[in-house]
Amino acid sequence: MKRLSTNELRQTYLDFFQSKGHAVIPGASLIPENDPTVLFTTAGMHPLVPYLLGEPHPEGKRLVDVQRCIRTQDIDEVGDSSHLTFFEMLGNWSLGDYFKEGAIQMSFELLTEVLGIPREMLAVTCFEGDTDAPRDMESAGYWKKMGIPEERIGFLPKKKNWWGPAGVTGPCGPDTEMFYWVGEGEPRGNPATHDKEWMEIWNDVFMQYNKGADGKFVPLKQQNVDTGMGLERVAAVLQEVPTVYDTDSLGKIMAKVRALADAEDARHERIIVDHLRAAVFIIADGITPGNVDQGYVLRRLIRRAIRSARNLRIEHDGSFTPAIAEAVIEEYGSVYSQVKAKKKEITDALSGEEQKFGKTLQEGLKQFEKVTGNAGKMIDGLSAFHLYDTYGFPLELTKEMAAEKGLSVDEKTFAAEFEKHQEKSRAGAEKKFKGGLADHSAETTKLHTATHLLNAALRKVLGDHISQKGSNITAERLRFDFNHPEKMTPEQIKEVERLVNEAIDADLPMAYHVTTVDGAKKEGAIGVFDERYQADVKVYAVGDGSFSKEICGGPHVARTGMLGHFTIQKEESSSSGVRRIKAIVSGGPAEIEVAQEASH
Ligand code: ALA
Repeated sequence: MKRLSTNELRQTYLDFFQSKGHAVIPGASLIPENDPTVLFTTAGMHPLVPYLLGEPHPEGKRLVDVQRCIRTQDIDEVGDSSHLTFFEMLGNWSLGDYFKEGAIQMSFELLTEVLGIPREMLAVTCFEGDTDAPRDMESAGYWKKMGIPEERIGFLPKKKNWWGPAGVTGPCGPDTEMFYWVGEGEPRGNPATHDKEWMEIWNDVFMQYNKGADGKFVPLKQQNVDTGMGLERVAAVLQEVPTVYDTDSLGKIMAKVRALADAEDARHERIIVDHLRAAVFIIADGITPGNVDQGYVLRRLIRRAIRSARNLRIEHDGSFTPAIAEAVIEEYGSVYSQVKAKKKEITDALSGEEQKFGKTLQEGLKQFEKVTGNAGKMIDGLSAFHLYDTYGFPLELTKEMAAEKGLSVDEKTFAAEFEKHQEKSRAGAEKKFKGGLADHSAETTKLHTATHLLNAALRKVLGDHISQKGSNITAERLRFDFNHPEKMTPEQIKEVERLVNEAIDADLPMAYHVTTVDGAKKEGAIGVFDERYQADVKVYAVGDGSFSKEICGGPHVARTGMLGHFTIQKEESSSSGVRRIKAIVSGGPAEIEVAQEASH
């Protein structure tokens, strides 16, 4: 085997696929651009969704890159030999170019010839087949042709051998996965028969379907290949070390942790290395610790790392997490210039969070002892929430500490309390949102109403999967972002325009009524920005509500006729799976009347 360093492996992968006609493209941010459906980039294909759906990529049909990824669903497995929340994915893509045979040939050539992995140590799996797609005998055939014996080829169902979509909808397909033997003694069977003893190292996905909002798999207009190799895992294979933490790159960070520790525990050491490496990269991509979304994940990662540090008797007064971060930056700065450039932001954010957590932890630990003293077999949800809310104890931390005492936590009640708390913070968010619409001139009010009509018309023309992903209104134009996998046709654009103008010409009255979020949903209002609203919301209806009914803060015009005429000026891609429309209204009156509460 070629004993490559992690840096050499990264470069070898890029060079190999470049020599096979692939353009090297830069990896994207960990924070998906304009995509509110997922918090983090979880795979190399994520930023490439529009191209997998058929949009031409400026660099051509063969691409290769290294993508930093976060997968928090694996968080409980971090601490074993191969799971990570942050990892680097090496990936190559065919956008309607080569398919199964080409992908498998290149994968095999790289693994066995370039990296020199003995084929006896490899096994593969293929899709077993179901009503959505047939058993993948084709891929199995190519593997056999390459010299993989039948007993090393396993067939598994969709749960294992189908990849995507990354969110709820999007490109996906059957895959074939490659594994390396990590069991004792000689390799045996395949991953379908000896699951634990084979470690997945690479995945070739044959993306030939688009999963729609209705759950159906529709063939894509092009057959794509999307692959993902785990850099850290393959580095461990080549370096012949037992875990990803023993590779050259992660090993240096492990050494730093051990130097600070006053106790030994492999699991806690690994958690610190994984979580703080993830934290460094998340902060470098612009996130700071907080209580919602990515900021909350970041906070949890840092706090879990500190909790592990406590188990290793590491001082944590504000300098522990920055010290580990410096080791991460040292190791990765030459490949990821942004972590070096943001060194100060990274260490400041970590130090601040460490100090904050340290203070509350002292108080919280006392409180935790009190709570467990009174608990029978279960810590009640209110106490767990109190620990979270007042002492900054993440639920996971409470659960972990409770488990050490043989106790469980009433997570249901915790979740209910958490919901209530979220509602309180929505009030502030709504103020901010309203601030965004502060310009209540006649023109912006007209465009705001036009936005509702546009939203409704899009749903009628393109389907009910359409929802608002963003809206921005100036006195000149409206800008509306919505999820839709492909470019609208000229006919669709015309039809949307026609429907909006029909509603305008009918001069329908517009009014609102106040109800709860649930009430609004029950009556069929579309709820954009739900999570930012308080329990009571305004619902604006056009006419009898059959054309458009939407939860909204307002203001709107009193009659649709005041909009004059509606014109779409542009329809373009905004980001992965999100389209953007710019439109104007013209010819309406300079003075308008504002829509009022409906009289019963
Ligand atoms: N997108 C595929 C994966 O993440 C390659 O496994």
